[in-house]
Amino acid sequence: MINPKLSASELMELENKYGAHNYHPLPVVLEKGEGVFVWDVEGKKYFDFLSAYSAVNQGHCHPKIIDTLVQQASKLTLTSRAFYNSQLGRYEEFVTQYFGYEKVLPMNTGAEAVETAIKLCRKWAYEKKGLSDNTAQIIVCENNFHGRTTTIVSFSVDADAFHHYGPFTPGFIVIPYNDADALEKILKENENIAGFLVEPIQGEAGAYVPNDGYLKKCYDLCSQHNVLFIADEVQTGIARTGKLLACDYENVHPDILILGKALSGGVYPVSAVLACSEIMDVIHPGQHGSTFGGNPIAAAVAISALEVIRDEKLAENAFVLGEIFRSEMEKICVNSGIASFVRGKGLLNALVINNEGHKNLAWDICLQLLENGLLAKPTHTNIIRFAPPLVITESQLFECVEIIKRTIQSFEQ
Ligand SMILES: Cc1ncc(COP(=O)(O)O)c(C=O)c1O
Repeated sequence: MINPKLSASELMELENKYGAHNYHPLPVVLEKGEGVFVWDVEGKKYFDFLSAYSAVNQGHCHPKIIDTLVQQASKLTLTSRAFYNSQLGRYEEFVTQYFGYEKVLPMNTGAEAVETAIKLCRKWAYEKKGLSDNTAQIIVCENNFHGRTTTIVSFSVDADAFHHYGPFTPGFIVIPYNDADALEKILKENENIAGFLVEPIQGEAGAYVPNDGYLKKCYDLCSQHNVLFIADEVQTGIARTGKLLACDYENVHPDILILGKALSGGVYPVSAVLACSEIMDVIHPGQHGSTFGGNPIAAAVAISALEVIRDEKLAENAFVLGEIFRSEMEKICVNSGIASFVRGKGLLNALVINNEGHKNLAWDICLQLLENGLLAKPTHTNIIRFAPPLVITESQLFECVEIIKRTIQSFEQ
């Protein structure tokens, strides 16, 4: 066992020395979490305003979810899909009814679920839509973030994500986000389009919210052209944006729905692809899979995680508190030289920082927020994402608004 007496700096040094440097964490070493709070190894308590990139919507170590995890872990953990297990069927019935689909394909991480959706879409295009083999194209959006696999970074426009990882997977067309006309143009010009893959709100791009009506318009265009509308709700889904799914704002029921992150309350990697039988049934035994996908722990934990969302009305809480949060941030922006504006939906929000003349300002603000007891992380140098667990209460939210206000003020000239 690792020596429990190591200090924060020694623990950070271990990660620096022995771990790949594929992340740039804030200098805080966490060892405990409960609800909206996390504690570092020195016992200092923080509000968590990242929620593990929206994976911990139900709050840290939710007792019901942890209880399910522990009980299932002491009974049966993994069988592989070579056999049936006593949890998977129950979960498959539960999750499909919960989201209104006929079938689910269980995976583990968000990126795997996106890969699965791409494969499903292509196979559907050849076997149902009738495209010739190897001609299918999937339309994606600029500034997308769908994960880190070689195929997914093939259609990223972020050089950090794709540079020196080529050769890349062909078959993707990138169009501007929030531009239904661009989608319509491609759909009219190109007969080989199989699907349109979109984030209902671009999370990693900095909680970029498209115009009202965009998703519905895109969905309708896809329907007209017999193209699958594929929603990546890995980050926006499971109550984060104030509805169960961000697509619910426009009554759009995606042909393929991709979920991950909070599907397990952040205690275990669980992801899923949902679709109707007509689409899902193109995949036959041996044509796709994962050793861990659909394992009994994942299945049991995901049911509990979804029950918590429903029973604790977390979508409703995110909706109400999101409105309050943005209106409080707008008040800060009015008198600020550095806080430019806020955007988001529900409790997926971003404060855009004016970092002219101080390139690392957003990072420095996050360091000061840390000092003041709130954890948030910049994205794209000048955007700070604020996404607390959805179990946060109104009074806790106001406490956090005060911390953010005080911190921003300390940077004003
Ligand atoms: C929209 C979206 N899709 C996919 C992913 C990838 O998920 P994972 O990191 O679990 O592979 C993310 C992660 O942030 C995401 O935000």
